[in-house]
Amino acid sequence: MSAAAPAKRLYIKTYGCQMNVYDSERMADVLAPLGYALTERPDDADLVVLNTCHIREKATEKVYSELGQLKRLKAARGADGGAMTIAVAGCVAQAEGEEIMRRQPAVDLVVGPQAYHRLPELIARSHRARGERLAADFAPQAKFDALSSERRPSGVTAFLTVQEGCDKFCTFCVVPYTRGAEWSRPAEAIEAEACALADQGVREVTLLGQNVNAYAGEGGLAALIRRLARIEGLERIRYTTSHPRDMDEALIVAHAEVPQLMPYLHLPVQAGSDRVLKAMNRAHTAESYLALIGKIRAARPDIAISGDFIVGFPGEREADFEATLDMVREVGYAQAFSFKYSRRPGTPAAALPGQVAEDVKEARLHRLQALLDEQQRAFNAAQTGRTLPVLFEKPGRRPGQLVGRSPYLQAVHAAAPERLIGEIVPVRIEGAAGHSLAGVLEAGPESA
Ligand code: 5AD
Ligand code: SF4
Repeated sequence: MSAAAPAKRLYIKTYGCQMNVYDSERMADVLAPLGYALTERPDDADLVVLNTCHIREKATEKVYSELGQLKRLKAARGADGGAMTIAVAGCVAQAEGEEIMRRQPAVDLVVGPQAYHRLPELIARSHRARGERLAADFAPQAKFDALSSERRPSGVTAFLTVQEGCDKFCTFCVVPYTRGAEWSRPAEAIEAEACALADQGVREVTLLGQNVNAYAGEGGLAALIRRLARIEGLERIRYTTSHPRDMDEALIVAHAEVPQLMPYLHLPVQAGSDRVLKAMNRAHTAESYLALIGKIRAARPDIAISGDFIVGFPGEREADFEATLDMVREVGYAQAFSFKYSRRPGTPAAALPGQVAEDVKEARLHRLQALLDEQQRAFNAAQTGRTLPVLFEKPGRRPGQLVGRSPYLQAVHAAAPERLIGEIVPVRIEGAAGHSLAGVLEAGPESA
């Protein structure tokens, strides 16, 4: 979806009434941000849309005969090494549904008048079904293998990419269009890179992916974590970002059983109102998210929960926003990221009615952040008096001081000798200041 993307040709044939003419224009509008420009002829089009009408008799048969001709054009494009996507929209699509694809297999997708805002998603999905990647036309595996062999980690913690892309199509988000389909790196390559990192002194890896818990290697993310937990020297494992939908039983059990897996989970919920969640296409409700959090906490009672939130999604009313605040109160977040909804061209939500005024978004964000900040401070303050294992990463701001991370990802400052960088050391927490903790080495700075 970048400005540099080559123009793709869109041919729309409109049958029937004025309403269809209007709808065809709207379809062209929602597709323009994806790089589609209208063309007059179907011959060289990348995407052909038949916007159909079935008000008159035999209209349906006319559509099938048109599709028969398009099938030949599509085959000719394919023979030239190109590709043509054929979509059927309008009233025939509504009436016949997927029957059309059964009768004419050259049709890639069928979209009824109620779903035109989802055209970008449907087109992306149909390209994926053919094994095409949108926008990301590199071979991911080659990219990672080339990058990882040159890797020189600079510290005792490192990121490790295990997954890319997203198939969730949240209606506000550009990632499914810009990063392409979900793709998982083979476990062997990940393990090899993790071993190399451990050999170079890395003690903690954070497994990265747009949808990291959708990791599709054998046994999923839980199996990958157990595999990496066997690597000598690798003491801590984290992962981010997860989708509630992919939080499977095995991963929850891993939080209870794998000591290297840190008790911290970034699990975005985005909103607390089911109406808004549905419009966001999140595939979870407030209740199912809360039930999931309950299961995770049953497995690992001390786990720190983090999240992402969007305020001012189109159509969000005061009561919806209140539901988000209720959700936050119910969960109790250790950390969180919150954003004002921002309209991204090409995403379905950008075309929704009920866009929320900027000052309303601003005020809601302010209220939400005040609550989240209060929760983070409370979570940090509750560590006072506890002894936590801290992985020291680097010198702190003051001389003689090191800074590291608690299992809950809090920054911890303590007076400690430099040789403890890369070590996990028990630190008694004496206080919380702002967003970090201060403590003293349990064994004292000299004897540690
Ligand atoms: N507007 C505001 N926030 C967004 N995010 C993604 N897209 C948008 C958008 N259009 C936020 C979500 C996501 C995080 C990485 O960014 O909360 O989880
Ligand atoms: Fe995918 Fe996350 Fe974007 Fe939703 S918000 S579409 S899950 S990357």
